[in-house]
Amino acid sequence: MKKIIKVFFSPSGTTKKVVGKIAGNFKQEKENCDLLNFDSEREFGENDIVIVGMPVFAGRIPKTASERLSKLTGNNTKAIAVVNYGNAHVTDALLELVDILKENNFDVIAAASTISHHSIFDGVAVGRPDSSDIEKINEFAQKCIEKIESGESLQSEIPGNRPYTDYKQLPFVISCDETVCAFCYDCVSICPEHAIPEEDPVDTDLDLCSRCTACIHICQEDARMFTGEAFESKKPAFEQANSERKEPEFYL
Ligand SMILES: Cc1cc2nc3c(=O)[nH]c(=O)nc-3n(C[C@H](O)[C@H](O)[C@H](O)COP(=O)(O)O)c2cc1C
Ligand code: SF4
Ligand code: SF4
Repeated sequence: MKKIIKVFFSPSGTTKKVVGKIAGNFKQEKENCDLLNFDSEREFGENDIVIVGMPVFAGRIPKTASERLSKLTGNNTKAIAVVNYGNAHVTDALLELVDILKENNFDVIAAASTISHHSIFDGVAVGRPDSSDIEKINEFAQKCIEKIESGESLQSEIPGNRPYTDYKQLPFVISCDETVCAFCYDCVSICPEHAIPEEDPVDTDLDLCSRCTACIHICQEDARMFTGEAFESKKPAFEQANSERKEPEFYL
């Protein structure tokens, strides 16, 4: 019996949503493999189907996510690769994701780049994925089902370059307003980089922090946020430069 495994790294939740929409088109039993907190080896069977979703961070897939993904191996396991980005640039992220999956013995049958609300610059791609995105994502999922039934692998060429663009750490500061922090420690538990000390969740080790946004997203008190001159000065120009709507791309 085939099983669908949704594999994702989704600090602000939109990549998880896109993977969930694709998976919703399959009738088989489903399971989550959330790489924000799963950091172990795992082998998938030849009857499994994995749907792997990664956000784009500075034109790559997040470093920690790629390290965790590299611990997952297939047995010629069918895979659908999706990168989800904030209406700016995909650069080499989809190529990197497809390369990792192929190296780890997954049979990539299709790939996609989708657009979601920008998790740092919140004026970009507001409300996405929207109903038009979801309609296209559902059509793509139906084509994936047909391809799996026919046994065909990925035929299309994936855009991007090797070597991939270098990892870049964003210079923005994440801070926490201790006057509203409720000391629930949810941010400590979710941080994939262990950058928030258990003894003081108001603090952030910016050398460890990847600016992934998971702590901002999970905080019920809205205590955590991007602050500082570098962020505030970049925001208006970035939002203006990336205001034109981009559309999802599908590779079969
Ligand atoms: C550190 C960081 C770097 C990002 N770099 C890019 C980028 O290069 N291109 C882009 O279009 N969006 C970029 N984004 C936006 C995310 O790719 C986008 O918001 C994505 O939907 C986040 O997925 P999530 O909701 O699963 O966390 C970046 C976001 C973060 C946090
Ligand atoms: S999630 Fe928010 S409220 Fe909870 S400890 Fe972290 S900053 Fe404080
Ligand atoms: S502290 Fe940094 S790495 Fe940790 S969850 Fe927050 S943004 Fe992500």
